[in-house]
Amino acid sequence: MNANLQIKSFEEYKEKYAKSIEDPAGFWGEIAEEFVWQKKWDTVVEWNFDEPKIEWFKGAKLNITENALDRHLEKRGNKIALIWEPNDPKENVIRFTYQELHNRVCQFANGLKAKGIQKGDRVCIYMPMIPELMIAVLACARIGAIHSVIFAGFSATAVADRVNDAQAKMIITADGLNRGAKQIPLKRVIDEALELCTSVETVIVHDCLGWMPTMVEDRDCWWHDVVKDQSIVCPAEPMDAEDMLFILYTSGSTGKPKGVVHTCGGYMVYTAYTFQNVYQYEASDIYWCTADIGWITGHSYIVYGPLLSGATTVMFEGIPTYPDPGRFWQIIDKHSVTQFLTAPTAIRSLMAFGEDHVLSYSLDSLKVLGTVGEPINEEAWKWYYLHVGKERCPITDNWWQTETGGIMISGIGNLSPMKPTYAGYPMPGIHPVLLDQEGKEIQEANVEGYLCIKAPWPSMLRTTYGDHERCRINYFSHYKGYYFTGDGAKRDEDGMYRIIGRIDDVINVSGHRFGTAEIENAINTNSHVIESAVVGYPHPVKGQSIYAFVVMDGAVEDEAMSKGEIVETVVAEIGKIALPEKIQFVTGLPKTRSGKIMRRILRKVAEGDTSNLGDTSTLLDPLVVDEIVANAL
Ligand code: WT7
Repeated sequence: MNANLQIKSFEEYKEKYAKSIEDPAGFWGEIAEEFVWQKKWDTVVEWNFDEPKIEWFKGAKLNITENALDRHLEKRGNKIALIWEPNDPKENVIRFTYQELHNRVCQFANGLKAKGIQKGDRVCIYMPMIPELMIAVLACARIGAIHSVIFAGFSATAVADRVNDAQAKMIITADGLNRGAKQIPLKRVIDEALELCTSVETVIVHDCLGWMPTMVEDRDCWWHDVVKDQSIVCPAEPMDAEDMLFILYTSGSTGKPKGVVHTCGGYMVYTAYTFQNVYQYEASDIYWCTADIGWITGHSYIVYGPLLSGATTVMFEGIPTYPDPGRFWQIIDKHSVTQFLTAPTAIRSLMAFGEDHVLSYSLDSLKVLGTVGEPINEEAWKWYYLHVGKERCPITDNWWQTETGGIMISGIGNLSPMKPTYAGYPMPGIHPVLLDQEGKEIQEANVEGYLCIKAPWPSMLRTTYGDHERCRINYFSHYKGYYFTGDGAKRDEDGMYRIIGRIDDVINVSGHRFGTAEIENAINTNSHVIESAVVGYPHPVKGQSIYAFVVMDGAVEDEAMSKGEIVETVVAEIGKIALPEKIQFVTGLPKTRSGKIMRRILRKVAEGDTSNLGDTSTLLDPLVVDEIVANAL
């Protein structure tokens, strides 16, 4: 933790913010001085949003693990870096000091090298939430291999898509994982995925459950064999500030998930800076983020941000409701957690079990709360504030995206004013604007617009892996000169932002992001499906849920059976996390004369609001709407 990075009052925030917008290079150059660079930069930032080309700290050399690990050893080598809490509260907690984590990362990094992994190679990681996942990520970064973590809930097909797109040379996995009372196989999924992949030469398997999966000769090896006899000394590979650090796949409004690319220097500076400010982290604090490292929140705010700040970060293997819905609160008391970050969907699911589970814990240690991943409704905000924060702790509502790398709009610890359902203020260096339909900047307060960002920030995405044009079209072509977020928002008279939600064809289910096209493609792989249209609709716990309208190749005789088959198709193509909650069989979809599906109408039907469907007379077949409305679920 570096005292020089931390803002200490709201006044200071305003000063820093003004400076950061006037003189971004001066502002970020000063912050970057607080890190270890093997060579300093020639320029702080060079950019244009047309190609786009964004370069931060050009010419500099660094290794992010030197900053996240080695830098702390002298003063904080014996400080706990990681507290790992197992799925089953009766199992042992694992604690690693900075020195121990450093040693394990170096040892595994040497193992990766021994398996032929070199700088620039892509390594996919498909693992449980165990310490080895963090070690694997950092070991890749140590030697300059590009990690691409795949959330361990994705199916074999989804894994294969990502592995193939990244042309990964290695996969790191485990036999299986613990999830509440269930155990879920992972290695088996990888074996199936690899039937569809040719780039992978090695699979490293961590023995997590003692399952003894079949090991393919010359391809599969055990983690414990890989690290055996490896030295705990491994030099940190010098990386250019703009070398790739990782790829993380995320869904967009079109096509297959895309590989968002983050680079070393800017990502390091920004995640550390935002972590220390939003959470007002102090040296003896214990910080816990409940996200999975398979998502960007886990990358930036379980692994990199906290470790770069010399923090103690908690990592939890399990789920909020196992063995009972008090599990989160029990863990907070057990480890005296001071900062706690979770998702609105988790809060809402726990609210449903009643207050008793939270009221039986003291939660005295808490200082700052966080929420992330989707808009938080007022009821959940108040419950969180009252029962978890005991009206003592500020709630920081962190708005950002996989593409932004770090928190963009949020409260700042207890320094900034709060307003339920408002994310808050832009972080220093972030220049949000709201655009109207014509792309004009909205100046008035309380008017909704498209949320865009006007200037670069250090941790923004640089490209989409293997397809730069897709990056340009997705994020930089909607409004010239702006990064387009896909979210709608408004700003009040005090300059606080409220995020309304996605305005594109992206659905956010329990904080997991899916494109409607992605789910439709999955459904359409079922041989009996002619076509389908998927929309999101509000769900009390998940935020949004998935409603699929499906046209089959003949009359549906057994609805339950056909639905079951479609569900299986989606599970096989993407994973259980993308299951449509409602499936309605229809004889046709509402289309314009040019063949475009009228999602607006389907969304209204899914929301149960069919009172005003607008003008449907121009549709190709207006009668299908009547049928859809009559049979709506
Ligand atoms: C989308 C990004 C940020 C890491 C986790 C999700 C929505 C995210 C908030 C928030 C309202 C939010 C947006 C955004 N979102 N945080 N605090 N308030 N909406 O990352 O999977 O890349 O999804 O999640 O719609 O665009 P992601």
